[in-house]
Amino acid sequence: MSEPYANMNLIDVLNDLRARELGAIVQYMRHHYIVTGPEGVALAGDFKGIAIEEMKHAEELGERIDALGGDPTAKAEKVNVEGVALRELAKADYNAEMDAVMRYRAAIRVAEAKTDYVTRRMLEDILAQEEDHATTFMNMLGNDVTGHELLNPKLAE
Ligand SMILES: [Fe+2]
Ligand SMILES: [Fe+2]
Repeated sequence: MSEPYANMNLIDVLNDLRARELGAIVQYMRHHYIVTGPEGVALAGDFKGIAIEEMKHAEELGERIDALGGDPTAKAEKVNVEGVALRELAKADYNAEMDAVMRYRAAIRVAEAKTDYVTRRMLEDILAQEEDHATTFMNMLGNDVTGHELLNPKLAE
């Protein structure tokens, strides 16, 4: 899925992103609450901090949708609520971030095509944060996102 938002209305694109942000909040907050053990305790704050950043994204998207005359969705995208092990959680969240990076890049192209430079700038700022989130989760996985050895080497010493 290289071009998910081709030929879509910009408001619909922003609402799709907002629904995914609302889902990410639920997913990451769950991970903040359930992680245990020495690694989990060390990383719980990262899950919480990123969840709060996703809340800000959902709010920014909602305000922009409203400004464009749309109706900000209150529906959260269905999220992954499986898994309890830190590695499973970090992998699910890394995948969610990589999906978000791909979608924000596509949404920027839609805003660009409509010469909506204000929306484009907002999306670019959010994209930068999604890339940071992906890096944070990748680091939790010890830079190995293949699903094999996922222990964070720094925390394993
Ligand atoms: Fe986000
Ligand atoms: Fe994110």
